Amino acid sequence: MTASETRPLTAARTFPPGFLWGTATAAYQIEGAVREDGRTPSIWDTFSHTPGKVFAGHTGDVAVDHYHRFREDVRLMADLGMGAYRFSVSWSRVQPTGRGPAVQKGLDFYRQLVDELLAAGIAPALTLYHWDLPQDLEDAGGWPERSTAERFAEYAGLVADALGDRVARWTTLNEPWCSAFLGYGSGVHAPGRTDPVAALRAAHHLNLGHGLAVQALRAALPADAQLAVSLNLHEVRPRTASPEDAEAARRIDAVGNRIWLGPMLEGAYPQDLFRDTARLTDWSFVRDGDTAAIHQPLDLLAVNYYTPTVVSLVAAGREKPQDDGHGDSEHSPWPGADDIAFHRAPGERTAMGWAVDASALYDLLTRTAARYPGLPLVVSENGAAYEDETGPDGTVHDPERAAYIHAHLDAVHRAISDGADVRGYFLWSLLDNFEWAYGYAKRFGAVHVDYVTLKRTPKSSAHWYSRVARTGQLHPPGGA
Ligand code: FCB
Repeated sequence: MTASETRPLTAARTFPPGFLWGTATAAYQIEGAVREDGRTPSIWDTFSHTPGKVFAGHTGDVAVDHYHRFREDVRLMADLGMGAYRFSVSWSRVQPTGRGPAVQKGLDFYRQLVDELLAAGIAPALTLYHWDLPQDLEDAGGWPERSTAERFAEYAGLVADALGDRVARWTTLNEPWCSAFLGYGSGVHAPGRTDPVAALRAAHHLNLGHGLAVQALRAALPADAQLAVSLNLHEVRPRTASPEDAEAARRIDAVGNRIWLGPMLEGAYPQDLFRDTARLTDWSFVRDGDTAAIHQPLDLLAVNYYTPTVVSLVAAGREKPQDDGHGDSEHSPWPGADDIAFHRAPGERTAMGWAVDASALYDLLTRTAARYPGLPLVVSENGAAYEDETGPDGTVHDPERAAYIHAHLDAVHRAISDGADVRGYFLWSLLDNFEWAYGYAKRFGAVHVDYVTLKRTPKSSAHWYSRVARTGQLHPPGGA
C-alpha cells in the first residue's frame, strides 16, 4: 500500500503551486468556418461529408462557430478562472494544401486567439496536429507515406515562425494511435481506410513526423519553449491472472503504447512489436537513421486518459467479444492482435460506454513517471460525456461529470504525492463539440452549447472545476 492510499477520502487535496489548470479543444471539433479565409478541406471534412461515416451525417461545417466566437470563449475561460488552454491549429487553415507558404489570414486567427488568451492571463498550449490532415496530402498517400512526415515538419516550422514569440507550450501530435489505427486500420476515423499495413506505416511516419517537427520547432523557437507530444497511453489490464491474458496485455501494450514511447523516448522500436506484426510487414519502411530522428529530447510527456483497456487472449476457434470502446468496425484497430478480445471494465460507465476507473489513471501516471524519471508529465485530456439535461431555468446540472473529474483529479493528486511529477490537468473539453464519428451526440463540455442558437452555458461541473482551479484545492463536488 502506498502512503497516499491511507488518506481520508474527504480531506482537501492541495495541488502544488504553479500546477496548470486548463481545458482542451481541437480545431475541427469547434471552429466551423470551414470554407473561410482560404481554408481548404481536411480529411475530416471529406470523411464527415461521406454518407454513413458520422452519426446522423453531422459535420464540422459550423461546429460551435468558435472561429467567430473565440473572444466570447476566451472570456468564458477567464470567468471560470482557467490558467491554461490547450487548442489545436488547423493545418488546412494555415497551409491549405499542405505545401507552400503560409496563409496569413489563417495564422492571424491563431495570433488573435493567443493574444486574447495572454491578455486574459491564460497560458496557451498549442497542438500542431489533432487529426485534420489536409485532404491534398491524403490524396498524395497520407500518413502511410514518408513525405507526409516531411510536410508536417515544414508546417511545424511555419507555425513556430508565426507564433513562437507568444506561445511557450507546444505539442506535436495528438494521439497518433488514433490517427494511425482508427484512421487507417478500423476506418472509424478519417480518412477511413482499413488496411493494417497502411496503419503500421502511418504509425511510423507519425513518429517520424513528430521527430522532424521537434527539430523544426527547436530551430525556430526560443530556447525555453516547452515541447511535448500527447499520447493516449492505454492502461492495459489483463482480464485474468493467466499467462495467456498477460501475453494479450503485453501485445496491446506494444502496439498501443511502446510503438510511440520506444522510438520517441528510448530511441528504438520494441523488438516484440516487430515479432507480433511480422506476418503483416517486415517494417522495411523504417530507414536507417529514422529512430535517431524520432528520438528527440522532450520537455514534457502529455497523457490523455479516459478509461482502462481490459484484454484477454482468445483460444483458436472461439467466439470473441470485441469491444475496445473505439467504435464499431469489422476491421480491427489493433494490427497483429486478431486473437485478442477487448472487454468493458465492470462498474459505472459514461455515455460513451467507457468504464469510469480513476485508479487506472493513477497507475498510468506513476508507472510512466517511474519509467521516464526526469520527464515531467501533464494530463492533456481527461473528462467524460454524459446525457446532460437542460433544466427549465436554462441551467445544466451534471453531478456525474463533476464526480468523474473529482475522482480523476484525486488520482492525479495521489500520483503526485507518490512522486510523479505531474505539472497540469486539461479537462476535455471546454465546450460541447463535434465528437468525431459520434457527431454532436456526445457532450464532453464543461460548457453546454445549444446547437441551434450556439448559446454557451457553463454546467454545474464547470462552476465546481472553476473553484478547484482558482484555489488549487480539491474538495468533493457534493460539498460544493
Ligand atoms: C480523445 C480525442 C479528443 C476527444 C476525446 C473524447 O481521443 O483526442 O479529440 O474526442 O477523445
